[in-house]
Amino acid sequence: MTNPVEIKPASGKLGVLLPGIGAVSTTFIAGVEAVKAGIGKPIGSLTQMGSLRLGKRNEQRDSKIKDFVPLYDLENLVFGGWDIFAEYPDCYSAAVNAGVLEQSLLDQLKDQLSEIKSMPAVFNQKYVKNLNPTRIKDVTSHRDAIDALRSDIRNFKETNNLERAVMVWCGSTETFQAPDSDIFENLSSFEKALDNDDPSILPSVLYAYAALQEDVPYANGAPNLSADFPAMYELSHKLKVPIAGKDFKTGQTLMKTILAPGFKARMLGIEGWFSTNILGNRDGEVLDDPESFKTKEVSKLGVLEQILKPEENPDLYGDLYHKVRINYYPPRGDDKEGWDNIDIRGWLNYPMQIKIDFLCKDSILAAPIVLDLALFMDLASRSGKYGIQEWLSFYFKSPTCKPDLYPLHDLFVQKNKLENTLRDLMGEDLITNLGLDYYDE
Ligand SMILES: NC(=O)c1ccc[n+]([C@@H]2O[C@H](COP(=O)([O-])OP(=O)(O)OC[C@H]3O[C@@H](n4cnc5c(N)ncnc54)[C@H](O)[C@@H]3O)[C@@H](O)[C@H]2O)c1
Repeated sequence: MTNPVEIKPASGKLGVLLPGIGAVSTTFIAGVEAVKAGIGKPIGSLTQMGSLRLGKRNEQRDSKIKDFVPLYDLENLVFGGWDIFAEYPDCYSAAVNAGVLEQSLLDQLKDQLSEIKSMPAVFNQKYVKNLNPTRIKDVTSHRDAIDALRSDIRNFKETNNLERAVMVWCGSTETFQAPDSDIFENLSSFEKALDNDDPSILPSVLYAYAALQEDVPYANGAPNLSADFPAMYELSHKLKVPIAGKDFKTGQTLMKTILAPGFKARMLGIEGWFSTNILGNRDGEVLDDPESFKTKEVSKLGVLEQILKPEENPDLYGDLYHKVRINYYPPRGDDKEGWDNIDIRGWLNYPMQIKIDFLCKDSILAAPIVLDLALFMDLASRSGKYGIQEWLSFYFKSPTCKPDLYPLHDLFVQKNKLENTLRDLMGEDLITNLGLDYYDE
């Protein structure tokens, strides 16, 4: 055992701030309210349902994660956020519009959900072409936008008498922006670019900057650049605030990071992996714009290459052809259908095929991730952790990590890292599975 880390208590209330009050956010908030009201279960959430092993197997000390580390309980979460639509000014109307949860469930939660009003957003249509805003902040410079967001955060904390807050980006996917210009390289050039209203700084970057300045941990659920560049890493170190990202790992990529490590473990070859899906929610509509799709495509494509390492295994993966398609198809709404065709190779290079047809619900898969990220990012902050929280890679399609590392995509490696981080925080031995064997003393 090592010494446990000193963790500040989860006292008072925790604010959960969400840029983007759309399908994912409202499904998350309504879900938490349903659990609190005893009419739903937090399925898919590690913080609420998961347990982990402590010590040797013969000690039988397994514990629920929420009993092991000090997290805020659901009763002490307070929700807030921003959006661009005057037509859906609160969480109830936005949830009805998103059409994910049944009307009968939303009606039972109407009082709580109607109280959560969204704040006018910092938005620029140039970066999300397929949405037409009806209520955004009247700001003319990056600095004004940041000041307005910071003042929203402070007011939200004051009005709700909050001890702490975290922010999870649940806004639309913005157009692709590579962090290749000098302005992203370090904090001083980035801040000069802010002063000069550089057009390559997207709204999600302004939210992240405002959050860090207010000592609010920031996690990015979309594939946008947002907090994923060296200047922002530097800021998160300077201000000692945790950041994490990016792009919630939900449908097809979740499947990929479950299956690909299994094929690789058994040395099965993969010749091709074709993924296509149809979805009809607003996210699908946004991704119908090629520039937003490009952001998503880049996020989805890295996964197989890192898990399979074709350069190290040319006989098995040297010819891998990986294709990802997303098709906007309104009749399906949030009920996405994802097809995967996987061409695999076995003994003596004999070909086989695997087909997956995943009829999933996008936001139902994403909602528990938002909850876990909010609680774990706050835990990180109370434990004195700051900078990139790579131990939360488990939740992301495109995990942010230190620039000199490659990201970990294998779901089981990610889970191991997450659990060992929790053990380490609490001064427990890390689990290596090199334990007692039958004949060992
Ligand atoms: N399974 C999933 O649902 C899943 C998985 C991975 C990533 N994501 C990402 O999560 C995000 C949310 O998904 P969703 O299905 O809720 O989409 P959605 O379209 O229902 O909600 C996004 C909301 O963000 C708002 N918005 C856009 N720009 C904004 C800004 N600058 N400030 C404030 N609000 C803004 C939009 O008006 C919209 O209401 C998307 O970027 C999506 O790509 C979702």
